[in-house]
Amino acid sequence: MEFQEMKEYLLEQIGTKQLVSATISQPRAKSNEVKRVKLKPIEIKNTYHIQLEYQYERVLKHENITLNAFTEKLDELLEQFRQLHIDFKAEKVQAQLSKKNKVIWKSEKAIDTKTVDLSHNRKKNYLLDENTPYPFLIRLGVQTPDGKVKKQKYDKFKQINRFIEFIDDTLAYLPKDKTVRILDFGSGKSYLTFALYHYLKIEKELDIRVTGLDLKKEVIEECAIIAADLEYDQLEFLVGDINDYNDETAVDMVVTLHACDVATDMALSRAVKWNANVILSVPCCQHELNTQLDAPGLNIMLKHGLIKERFAALATDSIRAEILNMVGYEAQLVEFIDMENTPKNILIRAYKTGKKPNSEQMASYQQFKQMLNAKPFLENELKEYLN
Ligand SMILES: C[S@@+](CC[C@H](N)C(=O)[O-])C[C@H]1O[C@@H](n2cnc3c(N)ncnc32)[C@H](O)[C@@H]1O
Repeated sequence: MEFQEMKEYLLEQIGTKQLVSATISQPRAKSNEVKRVKLKPIEIKNTYHIQLEYQYERVLKHENITLNAFTEKLDELLEQFRQLHIDFKAEKVQAQLSKKNKVIWKSEKAIDTKTVDLSHNRKKNYLLDENTPYPFLIRLGVQTPDGKVKKQKYDKFKQINRFIEFIDDTLAYLPKDKTVRILDFGSGKSYLTFALYHYLKIEKELDIRVTGLDLKKEVIEECAIIAADLEYDQLEFLVGDINDYNDETAVDMVVTLHACDVATDMALSRAVKWNANVILSVPCCQHELNTQLDAPGLNIMLKHGLIKERFAALATDSIRAEILNMVGYEAQLVEFIDMENTPKNILIRAYKTGKKPNSEQMASYQQFKQMLNAKPFLENELKEYLN
């Protein structure tokens, strides 16, 4: 196929709304700032558009153009890049261009004729794409350098994606007029801290400053090296204990993922005291209530160690959520990731509302606590907010 013929064919296919998705890559000049462009159709105000996602070294930028503007855009893209992978509804196309625009063209029928979801905000847009190389995922060993998710890291990849969906839901609650301050307590190897940074800073281009805190010095040092390598200059890592971390006055989002036992409560209480707009917390082992539980009415459950442990964990999270509800948050317990991947799958998600609790709510909390003989650590931490 000749170059001109190829161009006309592509314009005809795209002009008749056959595009499902495309990736245009291999810059002709090494100095090209844009490394790859992804295309997909979207509908904006009832008009068909093509969305272009430009991948720079560390940033993604988006542009939406009408079909009329696409002819010129295609010329521009073909001047800059030499490789095209395109999924049309009924055909898969691969084209390689030489320096002088000789075309190697491969095309095959699509196995199934594809339908296209044109909605602008489809959830999929927010997730990390399986075949796109992301510098942080490569550096953390989740992806190979060409963007393939490593088999043994697939669960982690799914968890990261799920977490980013939750982060996306928080956008409306974050301040727009200042640097958004985010703390990740017990950040460990920090897969999710890097993911959060990538999503908010690189993809959403928000002005944020993130700190990951953990007890483990070596792990934190390694994370700091990775952040420096990636030039994530607003992401820092500190060695420290959640229980002693008192260095902030105001924080906008507090994240704790699998921080052990009452370290989760300490992080929640800090978040409330700092007036955080958003709290995302997946608790880990919950021993506190397990040792306090004394509820004769529940003996047929609690005499089984396994059930007692699980019950204590569920009751602890219910108590945590209720306390947050009583100190001005709207707190929900939602599934973080399916049980296949981890049994620690309850996320406490709380958004600041400032709403005061009513007496009925307070009474039912007291009743529940008394029934179990529970003396919640978090209640003690937040007693001045509960009175
Ligand atoms: C199970 S790991 C989870 C790491 C990471 N948040 C994740 O979800 O992949 C729990 C981390 O919390 C840290 N941690 C537990 N208690 C802590 C405390 N009191 N202060 C700081 N870090 C703590 C541990 O060192 C560990 O790295």
